[in-house]
Amino acid sequence: MAAAITTVTARNTTTAPPASGRLPSGRVPQAAADPLFVERWSPRAFSPEPVDPATLDAVFEAARWAPSSANEQPWTFVYATRPQDRARFAEGLAEMNRLWASTAPVLAYLVVRKKILNGTWAGQPNPTAWFDAGAAWMSLALQAHLSGLSAHAMGGIDREKAAAVLGVPREEYDVAIAIALGHRGPAEALPPTLAERERPSGRRPLREVAVEGRFASTD
Ligand SMILES: Cc1cc2nc3c(=O)[nH]c(=O)nc-3n(C[C@H](O)[C@H](O)[C@H](O)COP(=O)(O)O)c2cc1C
Repeated sequence: MAAAITTVTARNTTTAPPASGRLPSGRVPQAAADPLFVERWSPRAFSPEPVDPATLDAVFEAARWAPSSANEQPWTFVYATRPQDRARFAEGLAEMNRLWASTAPVLAYLVVRKKILNGTWAGQPNPTAWFDAGAAWMSLALQAHLSGLSAHAMGGIDREKAAAVLGVPREEYDVAIAIALGHRGPAEALPPTLAERERPSGRRPLREVAVEGRFASTD
C-alpha cells in the first residue's frame, strides 16, 4: 500500500495575484511566477510559539531534496529548539542579529562540507559547495513559507565562535549562515529602528536580472 502523503496547509501562500498585480505582501510581480516565490520574505519579529516537530522536519526534508553538484549534498543543518541550546547558538550570532533572532523558537546553522566526498575528485576542494548549500537554504525557506512559517538567513555571524559552539572542525567544514525560523510576530515587539524596516523589500527589475544574448553591466 502506498504511504499516505500529508498535505501541509499553506497559511502564507495565495493562489493567484489580484487584478492589480499587487500581492498581499505589497510586492508586485513582473511576470507570472508562483506567489510562493514572491511572497516569501525575511521578517525579524518572531512569535515565541514553538514550531511543531513534524513541520520542522518537513522544512528540513525540503532542503534534503535540493540539487547539488555530483549529488554531494554538502550541507548539514544543526538546529536548536530548547531554550538552553538556543542561548548557546545565539552566542555565534553577530550582535546586530542576536538583538532580534534570539526570540525565534528555532535557531539553526548551515554547515558546509568543503571537500568532495565521492568519486574521482574525492578529497579535493568542492568549488560548488556553498552554491549547493544555498540551494538547500532556499528550499528550506520556501517550505517554511508554505508551512506558514518564516525563515531569515543571517550571514552576520562569528564563524569561529559558531564553529566552537557547534563542535564543527574548521579544517573540513565552514559555518555558512545562521537561520532564524518560526511564526511571524508583531513588528512592535522589535526595537524601533528594526520595527520601521519590518516589511517585504523590493527587487531589481526583471529586465535587469535576466538579459538576452549578451551580458550588460547594470552597476
Ligand atoms: C546569505 C544571506 C545572508 C543574510 N544575512 C543577514 C543578516 O546577517 N542579517 C539580517 O538581518 N538579514 C540577513 N539576510 C536577509 C537579507 O537581508 C534579505 O534576504 C534581503 O534583504 C531580501 O529580503 P527578503 O528576504 O525579505 O525578500 C541575509 C540573507 C541571505 C540570503
